[in-house]
Amino acid sequence: MFARWRQVARRYGFVEWDGPVLESTDLYRKKSGVEIVDQLFNFTDKGDREVSMRPELTPTLARVVAARERAFKKPLKWFSIGQFFRYEKQQRGRLREHYQLNCDIVGESDLAADIELIALCIDVLRAFGLNEKDFVIRISDREFWTDFLQQQKLPTERWEEVLQIIDKSGREPREKTEEKLGKLAGPVFSIFDKGGRSEKLDRLVEGLGARGLAGFVDIDVRIVRGLAYYTGAVFEVFDRAGKLRAIAGGGRYDQLIGQLSDGAVLMPALGFAMGDVVLGELIRDRAASREKLGIGIEDQNKIDIYVVIAKEQRRADALEQVQELRDRGYQVDYSLTAEKVAKQFQTAENVGTRFALLYGDEWPQVKVKNLATREESLVPSEAVLDSVAKFFKVSGSV
Ligand code: HAM
Repeated sequence: MFARWRQVARRYGFVEWDGPVLESTDLYRKKSGVEIVDQLFNFTDKGDREVSMRPELTPTLARVVAARERAFKKPLKWFSIGQFFRYEKQQRGRLREHYQLNCDIVGESDLAADIELIALCIDVLRAFGLNEKDFVIRISDREFWTDFLQQQKLPTERWEEVLQIIDKSGREPREKTEEKLGKLAGPVFSIFDKGGRSEKLDRLVEGLGARGLAGFVDIDVRIVRGLAYYTGAVFEVFDRAGKLRAIAGGGRYDQLIGQLSDGAVLMPALGFAMGDVVLGELIRDRAASREKLGIGIEDQNKIDIYVVIAKEQRRADALEQVQELRDRGYQVDYSLTAEKVAKQFQTAENVGTRFALLYGDEWPQVKVKNLATREESLVPSEAVLDSVAKFFKVSGSV
């Protein structure tokens, strides 16, 4: 899963980075919003500092960019694969530790960046053999809601609370949401029923349509996202059947870097994170995805050359050549202890190798064997590197 995540992020020109797993608790208190703060794995360390295992990466990213922004060319396109911790009630799709792929673009306010980011999110899921029948990206706009709250003359201190209620509304009975919203319930539900739109959202969908990706997205203003820092377009990815929790979520957070640097660095930003837990369930449920992932795993664990040591007296000679081959960048494996020759060939087949070198009675000649065609020949030991190079040049894999 991680290899696929990395592959698609690289395809989009994103650069890999990571941050610390432990951060000051204040970072999340100030920036993530109440829901995440309730879920922190936090403690006081031996130096009496309040620290927390990271529940998400975005505040760390904003902190790092605010401190080091001059060292990097904009826009930054960064991705990271790492472990996160949330003290949530364990349930299907939500665990106390999980992995996320985070992809963020910093320093670009144009909607082209939002389109690129959502396209990346779609392509990551497509890389697992999932298509528009399997998942949907629900896109919304925080500005749509903040404009609405302004019209309703709601004091800004209450905005986050109301946005949280709207965010939870899909997972709660309507009466409960109505009760929590009070006076605002009427106008909010009328928007839900009519379906809100905005010019920005239309342009977003149009941009994705130009890439042939419109079938993967729906405008749905009920999405507001639980995290406090979002300011613009936001989105969440769900399974089409609507059985599972969100697969991924993200959006624009144009103010966060400014807030973390007390106004010293103002930089627009946007990103998303995809978790491994729900994605894992979705893959397990679909035979085609399971198969695709299985092939990917086999491919990733394949090695180029298996060295068969047929006579223990030749082990030192074989290892000398193993070292040389590895120095040249080939992936080479062999049995660490004495094994029957047949067993060694079996291992070579099991790890998907197409090429074996056998060191035995023929020494100082080495038996070179193409495991796919069963062809074999004897070459002098000093010509082994050349014959390996020729094989991989012809078969084009190294
Ligand atoms: P989030 O929606 O809180 O966003 O989490 C993103 C994804 O992480 C979720 O859609 C889900 O797949 C996964 N996830 C979250 N909590 C859990 C859990 N307890 N167990 C399993 N999976 C979980 C964020 O974290 C934002 N920081 C994303 C972001 C990046 N926004 C901008 N850049």
